[in-house]
Amino acid sequence: MDLSIKKADHLNPLPDESCLAFGTLFTDHMLNMDYNQKKGWHNLRIEPYQPIVMDPATMVLHYGQAIFEGLKAFRSGTDEIVLFRPQENFARLNRSARRMCIPEIDEEQALCALKELLRIESRWVPSTAGTSLYIRPTIIATDPYLGLGVSNTYRFFIILCPVGAYYKEGFDPVRIWVTEKYVRAVPGGVGEVKTAGNYAASLYAGSDAKANGYTQVLWLDGVERKYIEEVGAMNIFFVIDGEIVTPKLSGSILPGITRDSVIQLARKWDVPVAERRISIDEVVSAHESGKLGEVFGSGTAAVISPVGEIRYKEKSMSIAGGKVGPWAHRFFDALTDIQYGRKPGPDGWVVPLG
Ligand code: PLP
Ligand code: COI
Repeated sequence: MDLSIKKADHLNPLPDESCLAFGTLFTDHMLNMDYNQKKGWHNLRIEPYQPIVMDPATMVLHYGQAIFEGLKAFRSGTDEIVLFRPQENFARLNRSARRMCIPEIDEEQALCALKELLRIESRWVPSTAGTSLYIRPTIIATDPYLGLGVSNTYRFFIILCPVGAYYKEGFDPVRIWVTEKYVRAVPGGVGEVKTAGNYAASLYAGSDAKANGYTQVLWLDGVERKYIEEVGAMNIFFVIDGEIVTPKLSGSILPGITRDSVIQLARKWDVPVAERRISIDEVVSAHESGKLGEVFGSGTAAVISPVGEIRYKEKSMSIAGGKVGPWAHRFFDALTDIQYGRKPGPDGWVVPLG
């Protein structure tokens, strides 16, 4: 692999691991790579963490041709640094790239380069329970051009940040707000890829939810506004009458890697799990009849996040008495045991730096 490395002259002090937030602090180095039509992807390099200087006409700033990923590195009890299902993230990055007319990267090369970056930044992988090193691969369009079209040049970069819990609630249940007024994505749109605009488009409804004391929005489908899709930064699971159900991948939901991991674990345990359409009316009637046992979200940043309350129209539904339910507990423990190397996971899930 052709990878050049330029080390930083000064290294930053490490943070106090007991008060790590999410996404505020970055490590000393970053990975960069450029694309142009003549050379393709080239100049793969690790450099000191630094600003990206841009022409004000840079296309990503105007038309949002940008994609990203989120994955984590963990420090195991034996002091080994491991990644969780990183191949899935690079595969999804390339699916996002195809949809957003961005040239694909070499997934194997990107993973190799990420491992090298992590070796250099290993001191930044925290060891306190519940902490990890969050990894953000990103690709942006860099042509300085105001005509609407596909950029001819791109920058791929990876930055790293030591993180604690994503939500201020930690593992305490979050409150979510079902919006009927706004939609996140529609079939045929870009909801199933990880592109920046999806998140920008979600902010208005998210602020509405926050202003009403809720953590995030639960999105309904964009056509009938009837079927559950996902939450702002995570997929969603319901335990209805003993069965674990999650919305099937409709084309407008992000196919979460944590979602897939939960489904695979449930199948391995022989627990009934279904991917199907779930209407908000079904959730309301399951709540009314006492059959809605639990609700929890899944995501890289959020891990497993129990939901203690769902607000829909004027109705506020308390879930599992506002406490962490047994399934959220079981999946959280099983996932984190695998991620932190306390228990073995299915083949290929845990990838050491080697
Ligand atoms: N849905 C959305 C909109 C997200 O941003 C995320 C986070 O990446 C997820 C779901 C969960 O996906 P994953 O488990 O791959 O992190
Ligand atoms: C992740 O979980 O990795 C995400 O990308 C969600 C993001 C909004 C923090």
